[in-house]
Amino acid sequence: MTGYLITVEGPDGSGKSTQARLLAEHLGAIYTREPGGTELGEKLRDMVLDPSSEGLSDRAEALMIAAARAQHVEEVVRPALEQEKNVVSDRFLESSVAYQGYGRGLGPEEILDMSIFATQGLKADLIVLIDVDAPLAANRRGENLDRIEKAGDDFHSRVMSAYRTMASDDPERWIVIDGSGTVDEVSRQVIDQVEVRLEKHAKD
Ligand code: TYD
Repeated sequence: MTGYLITVEGPDGSGKSTQARLLAEHLGAIYTREPGGTELGEKLRDMVLDPSSEGLSDRAEALMIAAARAQHVEEVVRPALEQEKNVVSDRFLESSVAYQGYGRGLGPEEILDMSIFATQGLKADLIVLIDVDAPLAANRRGENLDRIEKAGDDFHSRVMSAYRTMASDDPERWIVIDGSGTVDEVSRQVIDQVEVRLEKHAKD
């Protein structure tokens, strides 16, 4: 027996960080995030998101995020799961497929393979997608944007449609939640649906 790894995904401005925290709190699970979750990961996150890292190439970005993920899995996620603790990660492998694979155009298969190398094969048991339309997400992002948030409307619509495609291709692992409501409304739906899936998992 190991704990469950539940990840929360969505475009910038979807409100997924708030939802990931509320879900972790409700489940009594460990909350963590990517890129980040470790000392090294947080340093890499700062470098990747800093708007002054203007010349960073797309491949370097993908590799830095993968390096942060490798450290995160080895130092935080796997040990927790092995101690039968549940983990909620605010973003994980599917962010790389959506943002670097589709958004940057590096190719979903290559990015998936690289990410699986980073996690040594570890994948999420359940993925919650906070689905919001582009105009609402852009509005919620506001004006003080990091390097990736600045990537432009086409980039962000590729990311959102990548998420929708991944979710519809693998409905067993994905839960899609309409993120347009209030924090409380969205959180209620997230918690209800995750509980249904966890009960189902326990029975299987
Ligand atoms: P995000 O999780 O949205 O944090 P905040 O809510 O503080 O803005 O920010 C992380 C950014 O990193 C986001 O723009 C998506 C990007 N990212 C990738 O491009 N690939 C990845 O694999 C991960 C984990 C994140």
